[in-house]
Amino acid sequence: QWDHDRGDLKSAIRTIPDYPKPGILFRDITTLLGDARAFRRAIDELVQPWCGAKIDKVAGMEARGFILGGAVAHQLSAGFVPIRKKGKLPHTKVSIAYSLEYGLDEMEIHQDAVIAGEKVILVDDLVATGGTAVGAVSLLKKIGADVVAACFVIDLPDLGGADKIRELGVPVRTLVSFP
Ligand code: PRP
Ligand code: ADE
Repeated sequence: QWDHDRGDLKSAIRTIPDYPKPGILFRDITTLLGDARAFRRAIDELVQPWCGAKIDKVAGMEARGFILGGAVAHQLSAGFVPIRKKGKLPHTKVSIAYSLEYGLDEMEIHQDAVIAGEKVILVDDLVATGGTAVGAVSLLKKIGADVVAACFVIDLPDLGGADKIRELGVPVRTLVSFP
């Protein structure tokens, strides 16, 4: 059904050198989000393996993971769980410090965001070092989720993040990669 030629998705992503720090090639998805065909294609391809599976919830990381994860959750008729940067969630929460390609931060999840054993897929725009996603998987496991997969539009395979997530026993799916 899918030809798996994702050149159209890849060409909808813009690259900005030296943002937010010198030496970083920033893969900017705002151009993909603004292109109706590319946005729909990205969401359709992210949900494709899970159509017919019983996914209870989609978890997304602030901020880009909210845009993609919200659309994926809607298409799967699943709930959505926001994983937020520190200080933004109002109720009882669990926190974790993490590092990413260009910094350090802390993220949080509500303690009651899932019922123990619920099947959750994690969605974000991009996996680089995997620091953010590994932190998110750890938060989800702490509150009792069954993390069945982690799904990203973009992989930066040279940074090894997807492999780190797989080492946790969580299958990873990515749509395009930038070496
Ligand atoms: C970006 C991206 C991922 C993370 C990946 O988020 O959306 O969440 O970095 O990097 P890693 O694999 O090295 O952890 P960022 O923290 O820049 O936040 P934003 O979505 O608010 O822009
Ligand atoms: N998050 C971590 N590394 C990134 C990159 N190179 N481009 C966009 N978002 C990122």
